[in-house]
Amino acid sequence: MAPAYDPTSPFKGVKDLVDHNVLSLPSAYIKPFEKRHNPQEVFEGIDLPRVDLQSKTAMEDIKFACEEWGFFELINHGVPEDVIEDMVKNTHTFFNLSTTEKMKYFSEDVFNPMRFCTSLTPSKESYLDWHDHLQHWFKCDNLNNHPYPNIPIHYGEVTKNYVKNMQILGKKLLIVMSKALGLHENKLQEIYGNEEMIVRLNYYPPCPDPERALGLNPHSDSGGITILWQDQVGGLQIQKEGKWYNVRCNSNALIVNVGDQVEIITNGIFKSVIHRAIVNRNLYRMSMASFFNPCAQAIIAPIQELLDKQNPAQYKARLSKDYIGDIYNKYIEGKNVKRED
Ligand code: OGA
Ligand code: NI
Repeated sequence: MAPAYDPTSPFKGVKDLVDHNVLSLPSAYIKPFEKRHNPQEVFEGIDLPRVDLQSKTAMEDIKFACEEWGFFELINHGVPEDVIEDMVKNTHTFFNLSTTEKMKYFSEDVFNPMRFCTSLTPSKESYLDWHDHLQHWFKCDNLNNHPYPNIPIHYGEVTKNYVKNMQILGKKLLIVMSKALGLHENKLQEIYGNEEMIVRLNYYPPCPDPERALGLNPHSDSGGITILWQDQVGGLQIQKEGKWYNVRCNSNALIVNVGDQVEIITNGIFKSVIHRAIVNRNLYRMSMASFFNPCAQAIIAPIQELLDKQNPAQYKARLSKDYIGDIYNKYIEGKNVKRED
């Protein structure tokens, strides 16, 4: 099929379309019928697990959530409110810059340390997602040598502070998750090595035809663990046993989910789960996803201590970078990690 995106088009991303008062959904954004979101199919009434990181039961609660849901809502996570607020303001300011200013950072190379883009790699996709994003790929041991947009002027400082806090939280989660698996508390960190973090700032403008479009195609996250902040608008949905569930928005909470690589490392005990973002007719929505990932050279394979005769390894060993590379070079769709059975 012909690429859906015309790079010579004056419309650069979804915010730009909305700013040009596009009143009907351009055909490039119309999802095939079977991929659309059907509000009737969304299961209401069950909330995903909530974990209080300060509580005595945090470890068991995380174990249950990662085994049964692959997702949880995290409160008392220790990331100061002002750190999040500053990052949110920064991000809003960036997305509200002129298209010309944002396009200075446009790139379709998913491995760029910093890139502004729309959908994922629009010139290669048959159907586009209704969102724009700014993505940073950090080597966590070297946050100082990272490119940032020039405006807003404090962008780099604020972002670095946010990433450091996400890194501290990520490390805490690795400890609790290691213990929850009955392993030494440093086990997951040892596999990770010098961690990397991809911060993906997602911006979902109002959509003229939300039922035929999607903000983010159904996918599982390809990294280690994801820590997501979302605003109060809502739109994140997760799939469990074939049903879709809305993820609630609690302003003090972060959403944590298991990525494909942690599923592999735990030999499937912790599960990465398919999720998607829907859009709405009237409101702008923003989310900030921090993918806390093993270093590029980390060997991603089931941990020996979790294996025995009854539980043989279900996944092949691969380098983290090969794993992420494979996934990032094609359109995200469904779950990528497969058991070798
Ligand atoms: C992602 C993601 C969900 C959201 O960036 O991988 O799943 O609600 N984001 O934006
Ligand atoms: Ni995701």
